[in-house]
Amino acid sequence: MQINTEELRRQFDERLAEIKSSTEIDSLRVDFLGKKGKISALMAELKNVAAEQKKEVGQMINDLKQSIEKTITEKAEELVRLEEQKKIDSVEAYDATLPTSLDLGSYHPITLIQREVQDIFTSMGFIVENYSEVVDDYHCFEALNIPKHHPARDMQDTYYLDNGQLLKTHTSAAQNYIMRKYGAPVRAIFPGRCFRNESTDACHENTFFQLEGIMIDEDISISNLIYFMKTMLSEVFKQDITVRLRPGFFPFVEPGFELDISCTICGGKGCPSCKNSGWLELCPCGMIHPNVLKAGGIDTEKYTGFAFGLGLTRLAMMKYGIKDIRMLNSGNLKALSQFSDK
Ligand code: PHE
Repeated sequence: MQINTEELRRQFDERLAEIKSSTEIDSLRVDFLGKKGKISALMAELKNVAAEQKKEVGQMINDLKQSIEKTITEKAEELVRLEEQKKIDSVEAYDATLPTSLDLGSYHPITLIQREVQDIFTSMGFIVENYSEVVDDYHCFEALNIPKHHPARDMQDTYYLDNGQLLKTHTSAAQNYIMRKYGAPVRAIFPGRCFRNESTDACHENTFFQLEGIMIDEDISISNLIYFMKTMLSEVFKQDITVRLRPGFFPFVEPGFELDISCTICGGKGCPSCKNSGWLELCPCGMIHPNVLKAGGIDTEKYTGFAFGLGLTRLAMMKYGIKDIRMLNSGNLKALSQFSDK
């Protein structure tokens, strides 16, 4: 039995010359290279070839197959390129002025408020730092003057990991890292996601955001702290904000405060949002405890500093009038997208 690969090649070249589109090349591929295609048929004939010629004929069929494969791939690429170019060239295919039908999504309210606060602080010379969500006990507690078994640990019901690390309960966990990294003087803010084992309701979440800030320099006092907080809050709320400090206990600040702002809804007269007190609790803060500065390698004879832990989640709720904190982690895009103009 004779096998004529040249005849098949001729047939192939003839068909190829007529092909004008990528769809046509696909059917050519099937006709020649498909399971029931001409090459397979030729292969099947091989059994009828005299034994001493089998090797040589088999090799010829294989060479033909490879050459056809190569030609088809190249031709297909060329056709696709030409078809794309044709689409680009035809005016109606792409009109940049048409409104897009793509849903581009929107920024999460926490992202919006975080960026706004970051912009304000960077304009006042603060750097923005990032810190991990998984931290060790030293950074989250010990370096912050909270030794093991200190009752202050009970205020932050902590998620511990099997490897001894933990999910950071507050952004203060980055203080030591930043002091060690930059030394004094330093002005830094560091936003972050925090975790505490809280049972959730409209006001409580186990996952929330804070934005911490520290400023360490010579002669830093509480009045610097009040100035920066007032400036930032007045910018965020686009109105003059009155603040007040109440004593508050945190082992890593001395003295420590709770910073309240006059209720942005009633202007301080008293309303349901501020439980008729005229004040909203927003930001624990204080002068950094000397033990914390020392742990960060800062010379306490020369430098003092303040720290604040702004509740970013709470600030977002206040600014956007969000009544239920659970909405923020809900993934409800309809609710979450209404604050962003993007
Ligand atoms: N880290 C504290 C908390 O989350 C808040 C705080 C920060 C207090 C900085 C004082 C200074 O409870």
